[in-house]
Amino acid sequence: MTHPVLRVPRDEVLSGTAVRLTDGAVTVCLVRVGDDFYAIGDSCSHGAVSLSEGEVDAEGLVVECWMHGSSFSLLDGRPQSLPAIKPVPVYEVTVEGDEVVVRS
Ligand code: FES
Repeated sequence: MTHPVLRVPRDEVLSGTAVRLTDGAVTVCLVRVGDDFYAIGDSCSHGAVSLSEGEVDAEGLVVECWMHGSSFSLLDGRPQSLPAIKPVPVYEVTVEGDEVVVRS
């Protein structure tokens, strides 16, 4: 079984921000906090809104859905606040040279 791999130049992701990556089959919200990277499913489990368009809380390691305000953990994908109640997927992220690589 092969796993989709998404790549982005490391310098294209600024600390404290999120970017949306997709290969057409998998879409992730990639977040950078300092030199650490996190990838969770981009689609909010409440209303299918793009989480990468939300605010990143670098201290709390969450991203907040802009539609209704649920915050999702960058560590385990679980919502930290209502109205969302279901987690989003979490993806493996590695830094390989100058690239950030996301595998599912
Ligand atoms: S659409 Fe994300 S919290 Fe409602």
